[in-house]
Amino acid sequence: MSQSSTPFDQNSSPSPSLVTWKGWVHAIRGNNHVQFLQLRTEGKILQVVIEKEKLGEDTFKLLKSLSQETSLSVEGYLAENAKAPEGLELQLVKFSLIGESKDYPITPKEHGTDFLHNHRHLWLRSKRQLAILKIRSELSFAIREFFHKENYTLIDTPILTGSVGESAGTLFSTEYFDLGNAYLAQTGQLYLETAAFSHSKVYCFGPTFRAEKSKTRRHLTEFWMVEAETAFFSNEDNLKLQDQFVRSVIQTVVARCPSELKLLERDPQKILSQTKDPFPHINYTEAIAFLQSKGESIEWGEDINAERENLLTAHYGTAVFVKNYPRSIKAFYMKQNPEDPRTVLCADLLAPDGVGEIIGGSEREENYENIVERLEAEQLPVSSYHWYLDLRKYGSVPHSGFGMGQERVLAWICGLEHVRECIPFPRMIYRLHP
Ligand code: 4AD
Ligand code: MG
Repeated sequence: MSQSSTPFDQNSSPSPSLVTWKGWVHAIRGNNHVQFLQLRTEGKILQVVIEKEKLGEDTFKLLKSLSQETSLSVEGYLAENAKAPEGLELQLVKFSLIGESKDYPITPKEHGTDFLHNHRHLWLRSKRQLAILKIRSELSFAIREFFHKENYTLIDTPILTGSVGESAGTLFSTEYFDLGNAYLAQTGQLYLETAAFSHSKVYCFGPTFRAEKSKTRRHLTEFWMVEAETAFFSNEDNLKLQDQFVRSVIQTVVARCPSELKLLERDPQKILSQTKDPFPHINYTEAIAFLQSKGESIEWGEDINAERENLLTAHYGTAVFVKNYPRSIKAFYMKQNPEDPRTVLCADLLAPDGVGEIIGGSEREENYENIVERLEAEQLPVSSYHWYLDLRKYGSVPHSGFGMGQERVLAWICGLEHVRECIPFPRMIYRLHP
């Protein structure tokens, strides 16, 4: 009896019954007697053994000539083979063609980055891209698992918003009926803050938009951010949570994706050693002194750019929290540091291996007058924040939160140069298609 099965089913150990796999020709090679078909099914590349002796001359010839990305269904017996991907291969008995594929544009030869991005819809079928997006899927799942276990409530914040979330400089806006402009969310934070006053511990995880004009290897115009907000939480409590969160999700993903990391030639031990111990904390002021001691001409008050972030993480060999940045370079909602009013109670988590900032977080200003003053100083329209300001009127409490960019964390896990391969369809200043 024939059964439809894949090697990933619980009961898929080699058995004498026929199994069926459906997929696409990734490659086919061999000799005049036996051909090895690399079949992509369920995002994995599996081996199908085609023997002339068993199938006859004509069938063998037909299969041998199948072109890349032809889709087909194969039936045969599973056999263990340590050398085959996943340790299993299928010995073909019969097959049926489903869809032909002529002149598939992505061939095994080298292609330029631009060409590959123009063919992103097809490039997703390639081995490295399969591995990266599988790891992304595991990362998303681990993120949700972490917060679920910690009793955080998921709050889905809106994508169309009426108030500026971060800074007016990077807004996408669109006309919104008779109500003026709507903006694509730069963050879910302000909404998450309100929900934290209902559920105490909340998180959101979704697409986020920044009209970033920068063509760097870590900026997208659309990226996924996970944000958490906790009531009755200080900046220090917030840092402990971030530390546990980042190390835990990375360790989980590394444990669940050994074959994908191997394909990407990423040493899991390296990431595990970088995430074994709690990340060090330094103050912004100390970071500036360190950079100056390395010969950098940076002054207190300036933001720390990507190259300088790399100098800091290279020094520690792991991720590092940089705390208490100057107020003038951070967002309006951050709480002033009572010990040094020039600074705010915040931290960025900088990741190693050239990745840089993966988290921005802070304690929030909970005092009504202070936050109104900050909005005015930033020339933001106070009236569109009335709902946000209500939090500071009705039972205001200390609270803190953070946001982590998924693509940057994925770049760290996978050891990738650029975040554009870390999202299925990257959106950048110069790319909207496919
Ligand atoms: O530091 P950011 O701007 O912080 C916020 O949006 C806060 N409202 C978060 C919060 O406290 N709830 O962004 C957070 C993270 C960054 O550290 C970075 O990892 C990522 O989001 N990020 C980007 N990733 C890719 N492309 C971009 N253009 C990004 N901008 C920010
Ligand atoms: Mg930031």
